[in-house]
Amino acid sequence: MTLGKKTLSAVLFVIILPLLSCSACAGKRDGNQTREPEIMPAGIENIPSLQETFQNYFLMGNIVSGPAFESPRFDVLKYHFNIATAENAMKPDSLQREKGAFTFAQADGMVDRVLAAGMKMHGHTLAWHQQSPSWMNYEGIGRQEAVDNLVNHTKTVAEHFRGRVVSWDVLNEAIGDNPPNPQDWRASLRQTPWYKAIGAEYIGIVFRAAREADPEARLYYNDYNLDNKNKALAVYQMVKELNEQNPDVGGRPLIDGIGMQGHYRIGTNPEDVASSLERFISLGVEVSVTELDVQAGAEGVLSESQAVDQGLVYAQLFKVFKEYAPHIARVTFWGLEDSMSWRAVQNPTLFDKNLQAKPAFYGVADPDAYIRDNKKTVNKEAKRTKALYGTPRIDAAAPDPAWDKAPEIAIDQYLMAWQGAKGTAKVLWDREALYVLANVEGAELNKASPNAYEQDSVEVFVDENNGKTSYYEEDDGQYRINFAGEQSFNVPAGTEGVESAASVRGASYTVVMKIPFKTIRPEKGTLVGFDLQINGASVRGPRQSIAVWNDTSGESYRNTSGLGILELAAE
Ligand code: XIL
Repeated sequence: MTLGKKTLSAVLFVIILPLLSCSACAGKRDGNQTREPEIMPAGIENIPSLQETFQNYFLMGNIVSGPAFESPRFDVLKYHFNIATAENAMKPDSLQREKGAFTFAQADGMVDRVLAAGMKMHGHTLAWHQQSPSWMNYEGIGRQEAVDNLVNHTKTVAEHFRGRVVSWDVLNEAIGDNPPNPQDWRASLRQTPWYKAIGAEYIGIVFRAAREADPEARLYYNDYNLDNKNKALAVYQMVKELNEQNPDVGGRPLIDGIGMQGHYRIGTNPEDVASSLERFISLGVEVSVTELDVQAGAEGVLSESQAVDQGLVYAQLFKVFKEYAPHIARVTFWGLEDSMSWRAVQNPTLFDKNLQAKPAFYGVADPDAYIRDNKKTVNKEAKRTKALYGTPRIDAAAPDPAWDKAPEIAIDQYLMAWQGAKGTAKVLWDREALYVLANVEGAELNKASPNAYEQDSVEVFVDENNGKTSYYEEDDGQYRINFAGEQSFNVPAGTEGVESAASVRGASYTVVMKIPFKTIRPEKGTLVGFDLQINGASVRGPRQSIAVWNDTSGESYRNTSGLGILELAAE
Protein backbone atom coordinates (compact mmCIF):
# COMPACT_ATOMS: atom_id res chain seq x y z
CA MET A 1 0.00 0.00 0.00
CA THR A 2 1.56 3.30 -1.11
CA LEU A 3 -0.33 5.10 1.59
CA GLY A 4 1.79 3.77 4.41
CA LYS A 5 4.90 5.01 2.61
CA LYS A 6 3.42 8.41 2.01
CA THR A 7 2.34 8.80 5.59
CA LEU A 8 5.74 7.66 6.77
CA SER A 9 7.58 10.10 4.54
CA ALA A 10 5.26 12.90 5.63
CA VAL A 11 6.00 12.07 9.25
CA LEU A 12 9.76 11.92 8.63
CA PHE A 13 9.54 15.20 6.81
CA VAL A 14 7.81 16.85 9.73
CA ILE A 15 10.40 15.57 12.17
CA ILE A 16 13.41 16.29 9.99
CA LEU A 17 12.39 19.57 8.39
CA PRO A 18 12.42 21.71 11.54
CA LEU A 19 15.85 20.27 12.40
CA LEU A 20 17.22 21.22 9.01
CA SER A 21 15.61 24.57 8.80
CA CYS A 22 16.53 26.45 11.94
CA SER A 23 18.40 29.55 10.75
CA ALA A 24 21.70 28.50 12.33
CA CYS A 25 21.66 25.15 10.57
CA ALA A 26 20.66 26.83 7.33
CA GLY A 27 23.59 29.17 7.67
CA LYS A 28 25.97 26.24 8.11
CA ARG A 29 24.40 24.41 5.22
CA ASP A 30 24.53 27.01 2.48
CA GLY A 31 26.46 29.86 4.01
CA ASN A 32 23.49 32.17 3.64
CA GLN A 33 22.99 33.74 7.07
CA THR A 34 20.40 36.26 5.99
CA ARG A 35 17.59 34.26 4.44
CA GLU A 36 15.05 32.89 6.95
CA PRO A 37 14.12 29.48 5.63
CA GLU A 38 10.43 28.90 5.44
CA ILE A 39 9.10 26.34 7.88
CA MET A 40 6.15 24.71 6.23
CA PRO A 41 3.44 23.76 8.65
CA ALA A 42 2.48 20.16 9.03
CA GLY A 43 -0.27 19.28 6.57
CA ILE A 44 1.34 21.11 3.68
CA GLU A 45 4.77 19.68 3.13
CA ASN A 46 5.15 16.83 0.77
CA ILE A 47 1.51 16.59 -0.22
CA PRO A 48 -0.28 17.99 -3.24
CA SER A 49 -2.44 21.07 -2.89
CA LEU A 50 -6.06 20.08 -3.34
CA GLN A 51 -7.03 23.34 -5.03
CA GLU A 52 -4.28 22.82 -7.59
CA THR A 53 -5.16 19.18 -8.05
CA PHE A 54 -8.76 20.11 -8.79
CA GLN A 55 -8.18 23.41 -10.59
CA ASN A 56 -9.70 22.10 -13.81
CA TYR A 57 -12.66 20.54 -12.03
CA PHE A 58 -14.24 22.73 -9.36
CA LEU A 59 -13.49 25.10 -6.51
CA MET A 60 -12.29 23.41 -3.34
CA GLY A 61 -13.64 24.81 -0.11
CA ASN A 62 -13.55 24.51 3.63
CA ILE A 63 -15.15 26.27 6.58
CA VAL A 64 -13.85 29.10 8.72
CA SER A 65 -14.55 29.94 12.33
CA GLY A 66 -12.37 31.96 14.75
CA PRO A 67 -9.65 29.31 15.23
CA ALA A 68 -9.40 28.72 11.48
CA PHE A 69 -7.26 31.84 11.17
CA GLU A 70 -4.65 30.70 13.67
CA SER A 71 -1.31 29.51 12.44
CA PRO A 72 -0.53 26.95 11.12
CA ARG A 73 -4.17 26.07 10.51
CA PHE A 74 -4.78 28.98 8.18
CA ASP A 75 -1.66 28.14 6.16
CA VAL A 76 -3.03 24.66 5.57
CA LEU A 77 -6.41 26.10 4.68
CA LYS A 78 -4.95 28.54 2.14
CA TYR A 79 -2.72 25.90 0.65
CA HIS A 80 -5.51 23.44 -0.13
CA PHE A 81 -8.63 25.55 -0.51
CA ASN A 82 -9.68 28.49 -2.64
CA ILE A 83 -13.12 29.21 -1.20
CA ALA A 84 -14.45 29.43 2.34
CA THR A 85 -17.82 29.14 4.06
CA ALA A 86 -18.36 30.65 7.52
CA GLU A 87 -19.20 27.72 9.81
CA ASN A 88 -21.60 29.82 11.92
CA ALA A 89 -20.84 33.53 11.55
CA MET A 90 -23.27 34.30 8.72
CA LYS A 91 -26.26 32.41 10.08
CA PRO A 92 -29.33 34.43 11.06
CA ASP A 93 -28.71 34.26 14.81
CA SER A 94 -25.17 35.58 14.32
CA LEU A 95 -26.21 38.49 12.13
CA GLN A 96 -29.55 39.62 13.57
CA ARG A 97 -30.17 38.10 16.97
CA GLU A 98 -32.21 41.16 18.01
CA LYS A 99 -34.68 42.54 15.54
CA GLY A 100 -33.14 45.37 13.55
CA ALA A 101 -29.74 45.18 15.28
CA PHE A 102 -27.47 43.70 12.65
CA THR A 103 -24.10 42.52 13.95
CA PHE A 104 -21.74 42.18 11.02
CA ALA A 105 -18.37 42.78 12.67
CA GLN A 106 -17.34 39.18 13.23
CA ALA A 107 -18.47 37.97 9.82
CA ASP A 108 -16.90 40.98 8.11
CA GLY A 109 -13.60 40.24 9.79
CA MET A 110 -13.70 36.67 8.50
CA VAL A 111 -14.73 37.61 5.00
CA ASP A 112 -11.97 40.23 4.81
CA ARG A 113 -9.31 37.77 5.91
CA VAL A 114 -10.53 35.14 3.48
CA LEU A 115 -10.55 37.59 0.57
CA ALA A 116 -7.17 39.03 1.58
CA ALA A 117 -5.77 35.49 1.38
CA GLY A 118 -6.87 35.36 -2.24
CA MET A 119 -9.73 32.99 -1.56
CA LYS A 120 -13.37 33.39 -2.49
CA MET A 121 -16.24 33.43 -0.03
CA HIS A 122 -19.54 31.57 -0.08
CA GLY A 123 -22.46 32.80 2.07
CA HIS A 124 -24.25 30.44 4.48
CA THR A 125 -27.18 30.82 5.14
CA LEU A 126 -30.00 33.37 4.66
CA ALA A 127 -32.96 31.29 5.84
CA TRP A 128 -32.99 28.19 8.03
CA HIS A 129 -35.06 26.69 10.84
CA GLN A 130 -31.98 26.34 13.06
CA GLN A 131 -29.66 28.98 14.48
CA SER A 132 -32.30 31.61 13.79
CA PRO A 133 -33.86 33.89 16.37
CA SER A 134 -37.49 33.15 17.18
CA TRP A 135 -38.65 36.77 16.88
CA MET A 136 -38.44 36.27 13.12
CA ASN A 137 -41.18 33.69 12.84
CA TYR A 138 -42.52 32.67 16.28
CA GLU A 139 -45.76 30.76 16.52
CA GLY A 140 -48.67 33.15 16.27
CA ILE A 141 -46.78 35.87 14.37
CA GLY A 142 -48.85 37.49 11.64
CA ARG A 143 -48.06 36.29 8.11
CA GLN A 144 -47.17 39.73 6.81
CA GLU A 145 -44.82 40.40 9.71
CA ALA A 146 -43.04 37.10 9.07
CA VAL A 147 -42.70 37.93 5.36
CA ASP A 148 -41.30 41.36 6.26
CA ASN A 149 -38.80 39.81 8.65
CA LEU A 150 -37.70 37.26 6.08
CA VAL A 151 -37.36 39.79 3.27
CA ASN A 152 -35.67 42.39 5.44
CA HIS A 153 -33.10 39.98 6.83
CA THR A 154 -32.37 38.52 3.43
CA LYS A 155 -32.04 41.84 1.66
CA THR A 156 -29.97 43.51 4.36
CA VAL A 157 -27.55 40.62 4.64
CA ALA A 158 -27.24 39.94 0.91
CA GLU A 159 -26.72 43.64 0.19
CA HIS A 160 -24.16 43.91 2.95
CA PHE A 161 -21.97 41.14 1.51
CA ARG A 162 -22.70 42.01 -2.12
CA GLY A 163 -19.54 41.85 -4.19
CA ARG A 164 -17.74 39.86 -1.50
CA VAL A 165 -19.53 36.52 -1.74
CA VAL A 166 -19.80 34.57 -4.97
CA SER A 167 -22.80 32.54 -3.89
CA TRP A 168 -25.38 32.10 -1.14
CA ASP A 169 -27.16 29.24 0.51
CA VAL A 170 -30.42 31.15 0.35
CA LEU A 171 -32.47 28.44 1.98
CA ASN A 172 -31.23 25.57 4.10
CA GLU A 173 -32.98 22.25 4.81
CA ALA A 174 -36.55 23.03 3.83
CA ILE A 175 -37.51 19.48 2.82
CA GLY A 176 -38.39 16.78 5.36
CA ASP A 177 -36.49 13.52 5.73
CA ASN A 178 -37.38 10.60 3.48
CA PRO A 179 -40.71 12.17 2.41
CA PRO A 180 -43.30 9.46 1.66
CA ASN A 181 -44.74 11.21 -1.39
CA PRO A 182 -41.82 13.10 -2.91
CA GLN A 183 -43.62 13.91 -6.17
CA ASP A 184 -45.58 16.40 -4.10
CA TRP A 185 -42.85 18.76 -2.89
CA ARG A 186 -45.24 20.98 -0.98
CA ALA A 187 -46.41 18.01 1.05
CA SER A 188 -42.75 17.11 1.58
CA LEU A 189 -41.81 20.45 3.11
CA ARG A 190 -40.42 20.41 6.62
CA GLN A 191 -42.87 21.99 9.06
CA THR A 192 -40.52 24.83 9.97
CA PRO A 193 -41.44 28.12 11.64
CA TRP A 194 -41.06 29.89 8.27
CA TYR A 195 -43.39 27.41 6.64
CA LYS A 196 -45.94 27.63 9.41
CA ALA A 197 -45.89 31.42 9.42
CA ILE A 198 -45.94 32.00 5.66
CA GLY A 199 -46.76 28.77 3.82
CA ALA A 200 -44.89 27.22 0.89
CA GLU A 201 -44.58 30.64 -0.78
CA TYR A 202 -41.81 31.59 1.64
CA ILE A 203 -39.42 29.80 -0.65
CA GLY A 204 -40.06 31.96 -3.70
CA ILE A 205 -40.10 35.02 -1.46
CA VAL A 206 -36.66 34.42 0.04
CA PHE A 207 -35.03 33.62 -3.30
CA ARG A 208 -36.52 36.69 -4.98
CA ALA A 209 -35.33 38.93 -2.14
CA ALA A 210 -31.82 37.51 -2.43
CA ARG A 211 -31.70 37.97 -6.21
CA GLU A 212 -32.85 41.55 -5.89
CA ALA A 213 -30.25 42.36 -3.24
CA ASP A 214 -27.31 40.66 -4.96
CA PRO A 215 -28.06 39.92 -8.61
CA GLU A 216 -24.54 38.58 -9.23
CA ALA A 217 -24.40 35.96 -6.50
CA ARG A 218 -25.31 32.40 -7.44
CA LEU A 219 -28.32 31.41 -5.35
CA TYR A 220 -28.51 27.93 -3.86
CA TYR A 221 -31.01 25.68 -2.21
CA ASN A 222 -28.98 23.60 0.29
CA ASP A 223 -29.91 20.35 2.06
CA TYR A 224 -28.56 17.14 3.60
CA ASN A 225 -29.31 13.45 2.91
CA LEU A 226 -29.79 14.19 -0.76
CA ASP A 227 -28.42 10.73 -1.48
CA ASN A 228 -31.86 9.66 -0.26
CA LYS A 229 -33.86 9.13 -3.43
CA ASN A 230 -37.11 10.45 -2.00
CA LYS A 231 -35.63 13.57 -0.52
CA ALA A 232 -33.73 14.25 -3.74
CA LEU A 233 -36.91 13.85 -5.77
CA ALA A 234 -38.81 16.32 -3.60
CA VAL A 235 -35.98 18.87 -3.96
CA TYR A 236 -35.92 18.26 -7.70
CA GLN A 237 -39.67 18.89 -7.98
CA MET A 238 -39.43 22.04 -5.89
CA VAL A 239 -36.55 23.59 -7.84
CA LYS A 240 -38.10 22.56 -11.14
CA GLU A 241 -41.40 24.23 -10.36
CA LEU A 242 -39.87 27.39 -8.92
CA ASN A 243 -37.58 27.80 -11.92
CA GLU A 244 -40.37 27.07 -14.40
CA GLN A 245 -42.54 29.66 -12.73
CA ASN A 246 -39.69 32.18 -12.41
CA PRO A 247 -37.62 31.71 -15.58
CA ASP A 248 -36.33 35.27 -15.71
CA VAL A 249 -35.58 36.94 -12.41
CA GLY A 250 -32.87 39.44 -13.26
CA GLY A 251 -32.01 37.62 -16.47
CA ARG A 252 -32.03 34.01 -15.33
CA PRO A 253 -34.09 31.43 -13.46
CA LEU A 254 -34.64 32.03 -9.75
CA ILE A 255 -32.54 29.19 -8.32
CA ASP A 256 -29.02 28.83 -9.71
CA GLY A 257 -27.92 25.77 -7.84
CA ILE A 258 -28.57 22.88 -5.51
CA GLY A 259 -26.20 22.31 -2.62
CA MET A 260 -25.75 18.71 -1.55
CA GLN A 261 -24.41 19.08 1.97
CA GLY A 262 -22.91 15.61 2.01
CA HIS A 263 -22.64 14.69 5.66
CA TYR A 264 -21.87 11.09 4.84
CA ARG A 265 -20.88 7.84 6.51
CA ILE A 266 -18.91 4.70 5.70
CA GLY A 267 -22.18 3.12 4.58
CA THR A 268 -23.05 5.89 2.13
CA ASN A 269 -23.47 4.51 -1.35
CA PRO A 270 -21.68 6.68 -3.94
CA GLU A 271 -24.13 5.43 -6.56
CA ASP A 272 -26.96 7.09 -4.67
CA VAL A 273 -24.97 10.30 -4.60
CA ALA A 274 -24.35 9.99 -8.35
CA SER A 275 -27.99 9.39 -9.18
CA SER A 276 -29.12 12.44 -7.20
CA LEU A 277 -26.41 14.52 -8.85
CA GLU A 278 -27.63 13.41 -12.25
CA ARG A 279 -31.21 14.20 -11.36
CA PHE A 280 -30.32 17.73 -10.24
CA ILE A 281 -28.08 18.36 -13.23
CA SER A 282 -30.97 17.42 -15.52
CA LEU A 283 -32.73 20.56 -14.25
CA GLY A 284 -30.04 22.72 -15.83
CA VAL A 285 -28.86 24.08 -12.47
CA GLU A 286 -25.33 23.86 -11.10
CA VAL A 287 -24.61 21.59 -8.18
CA SER A 288 -22.16 22.07 -5.33
CA VAL A 289 -21.12 19.73 -2.58
CA THR A 290 -21.35 22.13 0.31
CA GLU A 291 -20.59 20.43 3.64
CA LEU A 292 -18.68 17.26 2.94
CA ASP A 293 -17.57 14.99 5.76
CA VAL A 294 -17.59 11.21 6.22
CA GLN A 295 -18.03 9.79 9.70
CA ALA A 296 -15.91 6.80 10.65
CA GLY A 297 -14.94 5.22 13.94
CA ALA A 298 -16.28 6.53 17.22
CA GLU A 299 -15.30 8.45 20.33
CA GLY A 300 -12.44 10.13 18.54
CA VAL A 301 -10.86 6.78 17.69
CA LEU A 302 -10.27 5.71 14.10
CA SER A 303 -8.70 2.29 13.60
CA GLU A 304 -6.33 1.75 10.68
CA SER A 305 -8.90 -0.25 8.74
CA GLN A 306 -11.64 2.30 9.44
CA ALA A 307 -9.30 5.02 8.20
CA VAL A 308 -8.73 3.07 4.98
CA ASP A 309 -12.46 2.49 4.54
CA GLN A 310 -13.12 6.16 5.11
CA GLY A 311 -10.55 6.95 2.43
CA LEU A 312 -12.39 4.61 0.07
CA VAL A 313 -15.66 6.43 0.59
CA TYR A 314 -13.95 9.75 -0.10
CA ALA A 315 -12.22 8.26 -3.15
CA GLN A 316 -15.43 6.82 -4.56
CA LEU A 317 -17.22 10.11 -3.97
CA PHE A 318 -14.49 12.10 -5.71
CA LYS A 319 -14.55 9.71 -8.63
CA VAL A 320 -18.21 10.60 -8.98
CA PHE A 321 -17.56 14.35 -8.50
CA LYS A 322 -14.85 14.33 -11.16
CA GLU A 323 -17.15 12.56 -13.57
CA TYR A 324 -19.83 15.24 -13.15
CA ALA A 325 -17.34 18.09 -12.74
CA PRO A 326 -18.64 20.19 -15.66
CA HIS A 327 -21.81 20.70 -13.62
CA ILE A 328 -20.21 20.99 -10.18
CA ALA A 329 -19.12 24.47 -9.15
CA ARG A 330 -17.56 23.72 -5.78
CA VAL A 331 -16.79 20.98 -3.28
CA THR A 332 -16.55 22.27 0.29
CA PHE A 333 -15.49 20.20 3.29
CA TRP A 334 -17.16 20.82 6.65
CA GLY A 335 -14.05 21.02 8.78
CA LEU A 336 -10.30 21.07 8.30
CA GLU A 337 -9.08 18.64 10.96
CA ASP A 338 -10.98 16.03 12.98
CA SER A 339 -10.56 17.68 16.35
CA MET A 340 -12.21 20.89 15.08
CA SER A 341 -15.12 19.21 13.33
CA TRP A 342 -18.71 19.57 14.56
CA ARG A 343 -18.61 15.78 14.57
CA ALA A 344 -15.14 15.47 16.08
CA VAL A 345 -15.89 12.14 17.77
CA GLN A 346 -16.59 10.55 14.39
CA ASN A 347 -13.30 11.64 12.83
CA PRO A 348 -14.91 12.85 9.60
CA THR A 349 -12.31 15.11 7.91
CA LEU A 350 -9.15 14.76 5.82
CA PHE A 351 -6.64 15.81 8.50
CA ASP A 352 -5.98 14.55 12.00
CA LYS A 353 -5.57 16.74 15.06
CA ASN A 354 -1.94 17.45 14.15
CA LEU A 355 -3.02 18.60 10.70
CA GLN A 356 -1.50 15.48 9.20
CA ALA A 357 -3.14 14.10 6.09
CA LYS A 358 -5.21 10.99 6.80
CA PRO A 359 -5.81 8.20 4.28
CA ALA A 360 -8.98 10.15 3.45
CA PHE A 361 -6.79 12.93 2.04
CA TYR A 362 -5.14 10.56 -0.41
CA GLY A 363 -8.53 9.14 -1.34
CA VAL A 364 -9.56 12.65 -2.37
CA ALA A 365 -6.29 13.68 -3.99
CA ASP A 366 -6.10 10.67 -6.31
CA PRO A 367 -9.24 8.54 -6.16
CA ASP A 368 -8.21 6.04 -8.85
CA ALA A 369 -4.82 5.31 -7.32
CA TYR A 370 -6.32 5.03 -3.89
CA ILE A 371 -9.05 2.65 -4.99
CA ARG A 372 -6.53 0.56 -6.93
CA ASP A 373 -4.23 0.30 -3.92
CA ASN A 374 -6.93 -0.42 -1.37
CA LYS A 375 -9.51 -2.29 -3.37
CA LYS A 376 -9.07 -5.51 -1.46
CA THR A 377 -10.91 -4.10 1.49
CA VAL A 378 -13.92 -2.98 -0.55
CA ASN A 379 -17.00 -5.20 -0.69
CA LYS A 380 -16.42 -7.07 2.53
CA GLU A 381 -17.89 -10.49 2.05
CA ALA A 382 -21.40 -10.87 3.42
CA LYS A 383 -21.89 -13.41 6.18
CA ARG A 384 -24.00 -16.45 5.33
CA THR A 385 -26.31 -18.57 7.42
CA LYS A 386 -29.08 -21.12 6.94
CA ALA A 387 -32.78 -21.29 7.65
CA LEU A 388 -34.17 -24.79 8.21
CA TYR A 389 -37.53 -25.91 6.83
CA GLY A 390 -40.34 -25.83 9.40
CA THR A 391 -43.47 -24.00 10.52
CA PRO A 392 -43.32 -22.92 14.18
CA ARG A 393 -46.07 -21.60 16.41
CA ILE A 394 -45.85 -17.81 16.88
CA ASP A 395 -45.17 -18.05 20.59
CA ALA A 396 -42.39 -16.18 22.38
CA ALA A 397 -43.12 -17.35 25.94
CA ALA A 398 -42.76 -21.06 25.09
CA PRO A 399 -40.97 -21.25 21.73
CA ASP A 400 -41.93 -24.13 19.44
CA PRO A 401 -39.55 -27.15 19.49
CA ALA A 402 -39.36 -26.74 15.69
CA TRP A 403 -36.63 -24.13 16.31
CA ASP A 404 -34.38 -26.49 18.24
CA LYS A 405 -32.18 -27.68 15.36
CA ALA A 406 -31.89 -24.36 13.53
CA PRO A 407 -28.39 -22.81 13.59
CA GLU A 408 -27.90 -19.93 15.97
CA ILE A 409 -27.01 -16.49 14.55
CA ALA A 410 -25.08 -14.02 16.74
CA ILE A 411 -26.33 -10.43 16.70
CA ASP A 412 -23.30 -8.89 18.32
CA GLN A 413 -21.51 -6.43 16.03
CA TYR A 414 -21.94 -3.01 17.60
CA LEU A 415 -22.49 0.11 15.49
CA MET A 416 -22.41 2.72 18.23
CA ALA A 417 -19.81 3.38 20.88
CA TRP A 418 -21.99 1.98 23.64
CA GLN A 419 -22.16 -1.81 23.72
CA GLY A 420 -25.59 -2.58 25.11
CA ALA A 421 -28.26 -5.14 24.24
CA LYS A 422 -27.22 -8.05 22.02
CA GLY A 423 -28.55 -11.48 21.27
CA THR A 424 -29.00 -14.51 19.05
CA ALA A 425 -31.58 -15.60 16.51
CA LYS A 426 -32.80 -18.64 14.60
CA VAL A 427 -34.62 -18.74 11.28
CA LEU A 428 -37.09 -21.23 9.77
CA TRP A 429 -38.92 -21.11 6.47
CA ASP A 430 -41.81 -22.73 4.68
CA ARG A 431 -43.50 -22.02 1.32
CA GLU A 432 -45.37 -19.13 2.84
CA ALA A 433 -43.01 -17.27 5.13
CA LEU A 434 -39.76 -16.74 7.00
CA TYR A 435 -39.92 -17.21 10.76
CA VAL A 436 -37.49 -15.51 13.12
CA LEU A 437 -36.94 -16.23 16.79
CA ALA A 438 -34.65 -13.72 18.56
CA ASN A 439 -33.41 -13.73 22.15
CA VAL A 440 -32.07 -10.42 23.47
CA GLU A 441 -30.06 -9.95 26.65
CA GLY A 442 -28.71 -6.94 28.52
CA ALA A 443 -31.55 -4.61 27.57
CA GLU A 444 -32.69 -1.59 29.60
CA LEU A 445 -36.25 -2.30 28.38
CA ASN A 446 -37.32 1.21 27.52
CA LYS A 447 -39.86 2.28 24.90
CA ALA A 448 -40.26 5.90 25.93
CA SER A 449 -38.82 7.32 22.70
CA PRO A 450 -41.46 8.38 20.15
CA ASN A 451 -39.16 6.91 17.49
CA ALA A 452 -39.85 3.19 17.30
CA TYR A 453 -36.25 2.53 16.17
CA GLU A 454 -34.92 3.98 19.42
CA GLN A 455 -36.93 1.63 21.63
CA ASP A 456 -35.59 -1.73 22.81
CA SER A 457 -36.50 -3.77 19.78
CA VAL A 458 -35.46 -6.35 17.22
CA GLU A 459 -35.39 -5.61 13.49
CA VAL A 460 -35.37 -8.10 10.64
CA PHE A 461 -34.31 -6.99 7.16
CA VAL A 462 -35.36 -9.10 4.18
CA ASP A 463 -34.30 -8.71 0.54
CA GLU A 464 -36.27 -11.55 -1.03
CA ASN A 465 -34.47 -11.56 -4.37
CA ASN A 466 -31.08 -10.85 -2.77
CA GLY A 467 -30.91 -7.97 -5.24
CA LYS A 468 -28.62 -5.84 -3.05
CA THR A 469 -30.16 -2.56 -4.18
CA SER A 470 -29.21 0.86 -2.85
CA TYR A 471 -32.88 1.58 -2.07
CA TYR A 472 -35.90 -0.52 -1.07
CA GLU A 473 -37.83 -2.30 -3.81
CA GLU A 474 -41.11 -4.25 -3.60
CA ASP A 475 -39.33 -7.39 -2.38
CA ASP A 476 -37.55 -5.59 0.47
CA GLY A 477 -38.68 -4.91 3.99
CA GLN A 478 -37.72 -3.86 7.50
CA TYR A 479 -39.76 -5.50 10.26
CA ARG A 480 -39.45 -4.28 13.84
CA ILE A 481 -41.00 -5.53 17.03
CA ASN A 482 -40.21 -4.09 20.46
CA PHE A 483 -39.94 -5.98 23.73
CA ALA A 484 -43.60 -5.23 24.46
CA GLY A 485 -44.67 -6.83 21.19
CA GLU A 486 -45.44 -3.58 19.35
CA GLN A 487 -44.81 -3.73 15.62
CA SER A 488 -43.45 -1.07 13.29
CA PHE A 489 -42.55 -1.65 9.66
CA ASN A 490 -40.97 -0.15 6.60
CA VAL A 491 -42.18 -2.41 3.82
CA PRO A 492 -42.99 -0.90 0.41
CA ALA A 493 -45.26 -3.80 -0.58
CA GLY A 494 -47.24 -3.88 2.65
CA THR A 495 -47.23 -6.16 5.66
CA GLU A 496 -50.24 -8.37 5.18
CA GLY A 497 -49.94 -11.59 7.12
CA VAL A 498 -47.11 -10.53 9.40
CA GLU A 499 -47.49 -12.06 12.86
CA SER A 500 -45.42 -11.57 15.96
CA ALA A 501 -45.17 -12.19 19.68
CA ALA A 502 -42.87 -11.02 22.48
CA SER A 503 -42.08 -12.12 26.00
CA VAL A 504 -39.93 -10.48 28.70
CA ARG A 505 -37.83 -12.06 31.49
CA GLY A 506 -35.85 -9.55 33.54
CA ALA A 507 -33.39 -7.73 31.27
CA SER A 508 -33.95 -10.29 28.49
CA TYR A 509 -36.72 -10.67 25.99
CA THR A 510 -37.73 -12.96 23.18
CA VAL A 511 -39.53 -12.06 19.99
CA VAL A 512 -40.97 -14.30 17.30
CA MET A 513 -42.01 -13.11 13.87
CA LYS A 514 -43.69 -14.59 10.84
CA ILE A 515 -42.74 -12.65 7.72
CA PRO A 516 -44.68 -13.78 4.62
CA PHE A 517 -42.84 -13.87 1.28
CA LYS A 518 -44.28 -11.23 -1.02
CA THR A 519 -42.52 -11.68 -4.35
CA ILE A 520 -40.74 -15.04 -4.49
CA ARG A 521 -41.67 -18.72 -4.48
CA PRO A 522 -39.03 -20.03 -2.13
CA GLU A 523 -37.43 -23.41 -2.58
CA LYS A 524 -34.56 -25.32 -1.11
CA GLY A 525 -31.37 -23.49 -2.01
CA THR A 526 -32.96 -20.05 -2.49
CA LEU A 527 -30.69 -17.25 -1.25
CA VAL A 528 -32.36 -14.35 0.49
CA GLY A 529 -30.73 -11.09 1.62
CA PHE A 530 -31.16 -11.01 5.36
CA ASP A 531 -30.05 -9.18 8.45
CA LEU A 532 -30.89 -8.68 12.10
CA GLN A 533 -30.52 -5.67 14.36
CA ILE A 534 -31.05 -5.11 18.07
CA ASN A 535 -31.78 -1.54 19.14
CA GLY A 536 -30.88 -0.81 22.74
CA ALA A 537 -32.55 2.15 24.45
CA SER A 538 -30.92 3.89 27.41
CA VAL A 539 -32.78 4.22 30.70
CA ARG A 540 -33.64 7.78 29.66
CA GLY A 541 -35.16 6.68 26.35
CA PRO A 542 -32.88 7.50 23.38
CA ARG A 543 -31.10 4.68 21.59
CA GLN A 544 -27.61 4.11 22.95
CA SER A 545 -26.64 0.87 21.28
CA ILE A 546 -27.14 -0.98 18.00
CA ALA A 547 -26.03 -4.57 17.46
CA VAL A 548 -26.27 -6.29 14.07
CA TRP A 549 -25.55 -9.66 12.54
CA ASN A 550 -23.85 -8.67 9.27
CA ASP A 551 -24.49 -5.18 7.88
CA THR A 552 -22.41 -2.64 9.78
CA SER A 553 -23.20 0.24 7.41
CA GLY A 554 -26.16 1.47 9.46
CA GLU A 555 -28.01 1.73 6.15
CA SER A 556 -30.05 -1.50 6.13
CA TYR A 557 -33.26 0.44 6.73
CA ARG A 558 -33.10 1.84 3.21
CA ASN A 559 -30.36 0.03 1.35
CA THR A 560 -30.10 -3.74 1.01
CA SER A 561 -26.62 -3.90 -0.50
CA GLY A 562 -24.94 -4.64 2.82
CA LEU A 563 -27.26 -7.39 4.09
CA GLY A 564 -26.01 -10.87 4.92
CA ILE A 565 -27.22 -13.96 3.07
CA LEU A 566 -29.71 -16.55 4.25
CA GLU A 567 -29.83 -19.88 2.48
CA LEU A 568 -33.15 -21.70 2.64
CA ALA A 569 -32.00 -25.21 3.51
CA ALA A 570 -33.74 -28.53 4.00
CA GLU A 571 -34.46 -29.73 7.51
C1 XIL B 1 -23.12 23.26 12.26
C2 XIL B 1 -21.83 23.84 12.78
O1 XIL B 1 -20.76 23.11 12.23
C3 XIL B 1 -21.77 23.79 14.29
O2 XIL B 1 -20.66 24.50 14.77
C4 XIL B 1 -23.05 24.40 14.87
O3 XIL B 1 -23.05 24.23 16.26
C5 XIL B 1 -24.28 23.76 14.29
O4 XIL B 1 -24.23 23.88 12.87
N1 XIL B 1 -25.90 21.66 8.24
C6 XIL B 1 -25.59 22.99 8.06
C7 XIL B 1 -24.53 23.61 8.88
O5 XIL B 1 -26.10 23.60 7.11
O6 XIL B 1 -24.77 24.97 9.10
C8 XIL B 1 -24.35 22.92 10.20
O7 XIL B 1 -23.21 23.48 10.88
C9 XIL B 1 -24.18 21.43 9.97
C10 XIL B 1 -25.40 20.86 9.31
